[in-house]
Amino acid sequence: MANKVTVSAPGKLILSGEHSVVYGYPALLTAIGRRCWVKAEQITKPEIKINDQQFGTETISLPKLKQFAHKAQKAWEEFDRTNQIARLRFIKEDALGLAKLALAEALDQVKKPTGLRVAIRSEIPIGSGMGSSAALAIALIAAILKLHTGRFDREQINRSAFEVEKKIHGRPSGGDNTIVTFGGVMKFQRGKDPEAISVNDEATGPYWIIQTGKPEESTGEMVSRVRRRKEAPATRAKIKAILQALGKVTERFIIAFQNSDKASLNQLVGENERLLEQLGVVSAATKRLIRELEKRGVVAKVCGAGGVKEKSGVVLVLPAGERKASNRLENLETLAIAINQKGVSFETA
Ligand code: MEV
Repeated sequence: MANKVTVSAPGKLILSGEHSVVYGYPALLTAIGRRCWVKAEQITKPEIKINDQQFGTETISLPKLKQFAHKAQKAWEEFDRTNQIARLRFIKEDALGLAKLALAEALDQVKKPTGLRVAIRSEIPIGSGMGSSAALAIALIAAILKLHTGRFDREQINRSAFEVEKKIHGRPSGGDNTIVTFGGVMKFQRGKDPEAISVNDEATGPYWIIQTGKPEESTGEMVSRVRRRKEAPATRAKIKAILQALGKVTERFIIAFQNSDKASLNQLVGENERLLEQLGVVSAATKRLIRELEKRGVVAKVCGAGGVKEKSGVVLVLPAGERKASNRLENLETLAIAINQKGVSFETA
């Protein structure tokens, strides 16, 4: 069995259905053309050497790695009881916390864990709604399972990555890890099998995103915020109605996407954005930016968990709006994004 492997996993965008997907409504997700790369190699010393191009280097023993994962599991159970997302903060405060949890999760499933040298490189912006954490967890898990067992089982990788995502985001829907594992464009709904959505050329873009910047809040904090408002007597009915409306918009979005019905897609992106604003996940600065774009005939919506204090992550602009957006609004960080990309995969080089 080869003792070296290189794996890559894509980032993702939610074209429609963020937040409502947590409560059982459908979402349309796509794997994108920005990836995270992991090179892993078995070594004889019983330790893990992690080198992440962005987050630095650390060597950790196998028992220490296990301890960290155990502490994270206990913290998650506490969070699950109390809904206090701060219980999970120590994981994020460790620059390599996510990588450690993914490694521990994979090693927990193999009979004889060996030492490892792991190099990580990612071209997915961190914490901006583009699936950076799912991509890293999945690339690591796939690499470690392949090295130790020779197997590449997407279902197993996906299940394991969801366990890691829970420690990072609290109570995620599972959509991010599923699209990153399987790739393509998919309709994801909790409790149902994901449905691959075929893409015809008209709808493939490129889509554009505008980077409003990394939100101060994490995905877990934003999801908890919505949950609190959904449970509070004063806002319960309003939030329930918004989540239902988001579900309906997404159903219509999926049909419009399959029919390459650009007029409907544009309208639905606008409706989606208004509902996310009412849900309370879009900052004042991002709303101002989106109103400016709308004045110029460009529709856009927050993509992912959003953010309210200042920045809200990335904003999605449909293919038709891209030229207008970049021509008419200067000083925006815009990026063309290829959708419908392959899921986690092995590199032969
Ligand atoms: C995060 O990328 C999207 C959310 O819907 C959370 C989730 O699906 O777990 C906000």
